[in-house]
Amino acid sequence: MNPFESLGLKHDGRTLWVLDQAQLPDAEVWLDGSDPETMVALIRRLAVRGAPLIGVAAAACLATFAQRGASASEYSAACAALRSARPTAVNLMWAMDRMKEAADPVSEAEAIFTEDVRLCEGMAEHGAALIQEGEGLLTHCNTGGLATAGIGTALGVIRRAHEQGKHVHVYADETRPLLQGGRLTAWELKKLGIPSTLITDSMAALLLRDGKVQRVLVGSDRVAANGDFANKVGTYGLAVQARFHGVPFHPVAPVSTVDLACPDGAAIPIELRNPGEVRGYGAWRWAPEDIPTWNPAFDVTPADLVSSLVLDRAVLTRNELCSGALAKVCGEQPGNPAPRQGD
Ligand code: MRU
Repeated sequence: MNPFESLGLKHDGRTLWVLDQAQLPDAEVWLDGSDPETMVALIRRLAVRGAPLIGVAAAACLATFAQRGASASEYSAACAALRSARPTAVNLMWAMDRMKEAADPVSEAEAIFTEDVRLCEGMAEHGAALIQEGEGLLTHCNTGGLATAGIGTALGVIRRAHEQGKHVHVYADETRPLLQGGRLTAWELKKLGIPSTLITDSMAALLLRDGKVQRVLVGSDRVAANGDFANKVGTYGLAVQARFHGVPFHPVAPVSTVDLACPDGAAIPIELRNPGEVRGYGAWRWAPEDIPTWNPAFDVTPADLVSSLVLDRAVLTRNELCSGALAKVCGEQPGNPAPRQGD
C-alpha cells in the first residue's frame, strides 16, 4: 500500500491509523485500524465516522488485511462484516462492493481514497459558486476533512468559499446527541481559521428568523433516486425551518452517496442507536436511567425541501431532481454499482 494521509486517516505502508474522533477535540489519539474486527468496532462507536470516510477506511482496512495474507474466505467474511458495520451511509456498501470484486485490493483501496479526494474538490468548486460575498452559512453535524478523505462535503464547500475570500460566517449546530458539530466541526473551523459561531440545535430557527443565515449547507449519508436524502438527525427540521424562512437549503454529496437502487427516502434504512446517547453523554447521565428513548441517528429530508443538490459533477435544482435528473447525471458512472441487495 502506498502511504497516504488525510485529516482522520493515514497509512504508513504497513499499518492503517485512524484518528479517534470520539476523543476530539480534547485529545488527538491515533489508533491502529488494520484489523477488520477492530475497524467494525471503531466504525460502530464513531471513532471513524462520516459517510465517505467509513467507506474509505473500510476499504483501506480490507486492503491491509489482504496485504497481511488473509485467505479468500477470511477476506470475504471481513468484507461482509465491514459492509454491515453501519446501515445508513451507502458509501460503505459502495466501497465494499468495489472491494469484493477487486482483482487487486490494494490498488482498489488506493483508488477509492484518491477518488474521494477528487470528489470533494468537485463538490467544493460547484458549491462555492453558489455562495455570495458575506453570507451567513448554517451547517449541521460534521462534513469536513474528518468525514472524508479530502476537504469534505458541505464543509468543503464552505472552506472553498472562505478561501475565495467571500467573507462567509459559519453557524455550526452542535448536533445532538453525539455533538459532531460542537466537537468536530468547531475543531475543524478553528484549525482552518474560518469565522464561526457555535449554536445548540434549538437556536437555528431563531437565527434564520433574524436573517443571520443566507444559506444552509448539509451533508448526506444516502441520496435516493428521487432526491430525498438521509443525513444526521436534525437535518429535516433545518430544511423545514429554511423553507419557512425562505432560505436556500442545499445537501452536498458525492456520487458515492447516491443510491439509485433506493427509489425514495422511505426505502433508506435508518440506524437506531443506544438509549444511553439520549439519556446523557459519555459517562454523564442526566435523565432517569430507565426512561424509554428513541434514537434514530439519521432523518430523511424530502426532495421537495431541497433548493438544489450539490454533487461533485453538477448542481441539480429541486425541479431537476423531481424530474429524475439524478439517474441521468449519476447513472452508469464508473463506481456507481448496480442495485445493491440487503442494505
Ligand atoms: O453519525 P455520523 O457522524 O457518521 O453522521 C455523519 C453525517 O451525518 C454527515 O452529515 C454525513 O456523513 C455526510 S457528510 C460527510
